[in-house]
Amino acid sequence: MKLFSIFGNPVSHSISPKMHNITINDLNLDACYIRTRIEDPSTLMDTFHAIKLDGANVTVPHKEVALYQSDAVDSFASMIGAVNTLVKKGDKVIGYNTDAPGFYKAIESFGKINNALILGAGGTAKAIATILRDKNIHPTILNRSKNRIDFFLNNDFEAYDWESFDIAKFDLIINTTSAGLSDETLPLQESMLSALMKNAKFAFDVIYNKPTPFLQLAHKNNLTCKDGADMLLYQGVLAFNLFYDNKFNLTQIETSMKKAFKL
Ligand SMILES: NC(=O)c1ccc[n+]([C@@H]2O[C@H](COP(=O)([O-])OP(=O)(O)OC[C@H]3O[C@@H](n4cnc5c(N)ncnc54)[C@H](OP(=O)(O)O)[C@@H]3O)[C@@H](O)[C@H]2O)c1
Repeated sequence: MKLFSIFGNPVSHSISPKMHNITINDLNLDACYIRTRIEDPSTLMDTFHAIKLDGANVTVPHKEVALYQSDAVDSFASMIGAVNTLVKKGDKVIGYNTDAPGFYKAIESFGKINNALILGAGGTAKAIATILRDKNIHPTILNRSKNRIDFFLNNDFEAYDWESFDIAKFDLIINTTSAGLSDETLPLQESMLSALMKNAKFAFDVIYNKPTPFLQLAHKNNLTCKDGADMLLYQGVLAFNLFYDNKFNLTQIETSMKKAFKL
């Protein structure tokens, strides 16, 4: 039997076990997906080996630690600086990032996008900025404070803090901050966000299952909107296929995993 887990802290809210176990069941596989709370990040890979996992997904706040503790890292995950999927291959554990392609798949339904403004500069912003640049969509990063924009400036991204930013025209505005997750705040001053939205076409919030103040304002400005549910779905679909050496049809996995969002 294969054993998989979600690693994070907290993990009680995660729907990954539901997404993966439904798919395992639908595909008649001999496997199980559990949840494991990792309190001490330094124990992440020891825990992977101790419970004899074949694969794991990694969520907040361990994605960077997972990268450093992997035996080898896929080149794209290495560029992003974060790993959200671990796969055992022989006696090695390989790190991947499926958040980035998951996000890109989620915005495909928007159609043509030339440039995007990313609000926030954490791990999710790194993944999104990297995949957008890879797909020739120019990303600009805007963060509340200065510290975290150094990673972006050092990697030749256009990045600003609130002080240094001037309003410009962006097709897509993405909220990667946790503003609105457990409060009712916007990720940027309302006047500035409204001005940006007046010139935009699309809005994406990585938070899912909640009409955040960001998405409500985007609706008011008649933007085409999406929350983070599809990003979560597609990162799971891609991770599942990595667990099984890409042998399944992605649409088949997607159909099963989608059921978890309706339960
Ligand atoms: N849908 C999905 O599949 C998916 C996948 C991955 C992550 N997520 C979600 O993405 C969110 C961010 O995750 P992360 O790992 O990137 O977090 P993180 O590394 O902690 O980064 C958070 C960023 O948000 C900014 N921020 C936080 N609160 C803010 C506020 N009230 N106003 C303005 N800026 C604020 C921070 O700015 P400072 O630097 O100034 O502190 C920082 O740049 C989480 O809610 C996570 O659940 C969703």
